[in-house]
Amino acid sequence: MKEAVTDRFGRPMQDLRISVTDRCQFRCSYCMPKEIFGTDYAFLPKQELLSFDELEKVVKIFAEKGVKKVRITGGEPLMRPGLPELVRRIYAIDGIGDVGLTTNGVLLGHYAKELFEAGLTRVNVSLDAIDEELFRKMNGQGVPPQKVFRGIETALTFGFQVKVNMVVQRGVNEQEILPLARYCKEKGITLRFIEFMDVGNDNAWSYERVIPKTEILNILSEKYELAPVEKDYFGEVARRYKYGDSQEQVGFITSVSESFCSSCTRIRLSSDGKLFNCLFASEGRDLKQLLREGASEQELGDFITGNWRDRDDRYSDERWEQRKSGKKKINMSYIGG
Ligand code: GTP
Ligand code: 5AD
Ligand code: SF4
Ligand code: SF4
Repeated sequence: MKEAVTDRFGRPMQDLRISVTDRCQFRCSYCMPKEIFGTDYAFLPKQELLSFDELEKVVKIFAEKGVKKVRITGGEPLMRPGLPELVRRIYAIDGIGDVGLTTNGVLLGHYAKELFEAGLTRVNVSLDAIDEELFRKMNGQGVPPQKVFRGIETALTFGFQVKVNMVVQRGVNEQEILPLARYCKEKGITLRFIEFMDVGNDNAWSYERVIPKTEILNILSEKYELAPVEKDYFGEVARRYKYGDSQEQVGFITSVSESFCSSCTRIRLSSDGKLFNCLFASEGRDLKQLLREGASEQELGDFITGNWRDRDDRYSDERWEQRKSGKKKINMSYIGG
């Protein structure tokens, strides 16, 4: 058994979410609004990103410290050249039993075969609408949804387990709840509804625009019978429900209406090698600097465990107090979801 490192609230460090790039083809208003991420936006230069060798080294240390699950995110992770090679290397690490990828799906069709051959079996695809006009508008770049559908379909053909993530915003895409549910149910995909969150500082969040889980469940109940399903493991983010007439499921990620900080086992690594203990953190701790100064594995391991032991983050539990304090938060496209 690997040593389990726990934080100040006794939460074990079990999952590592790695952002491999801060770039994305899309400009979703809730994540990378066009007005801020314009043509002159300074994305990280290549030399600032952790290389695959560095990432492999770091993940081995995390695995030694008890991390079992790795999720690769971005920005858009498939924009990082050669990503399947990283997936292959992470899979080969002792102790890592599960690797997932969260993608916008645009390049999924292109990379599905290579990713599958690298060992990946699960992908989570963000899709906020299936209506063409609305989808083009929401991604800020006029990309048609058919590109994402093709990515999903190719992934399914290869045997991937696919989940779809839909961020629901009042006044924007609530009319897509039932069409997306139908699309996913027909394809055997678990659809997760994500409550619109106040990540970063620039996404024009307001509570009025959040559609809470209970309201989404009511909308779904007009058409489907749903029964709650037990959590699969400690720290699972989504609350899942099963359709009465099939094996398919839907999930809810309820950061706003029912926070889940008490079981938060996730450490995040930004593309430029900083450790973040929460999606809503203000600052990270620089692991890359240590790595590039030639720190030993022991020193890197101590840095990682020391950081986690110090951890007392629980933003969603304290959202309203924290918002009053006007705290600055890191951008989601930089840290990964
Ligand atoms: P699975 O392994 O498939 O369960 O993946 P996942 O649900 O952990 O990953 P995914 O990247 O698909 O996350 C879905 C949504 O949950 C994203 O919008 C994330 O931002 C959100 N999410 C994941 N972890 C956290 C968290 O620790 N806190 C909050 N507030 N939201 C989270
Ligand atoms: N609120 C909720 N979910 C968000 N995501 C990005 N920004 C937000 C936000 N403000 C989601 C994406 C993707 C996942 C990684 O995070 O849609 O599915
Ligand atoms: Fe890109 Fe995902 Fe952010 Fe949209 S939510 S801009 S697809 S990283
Ligand atoms: Fe974890 Fe922070 Fe999300 Fe709470 S708000 S579940 S501590 S990432």
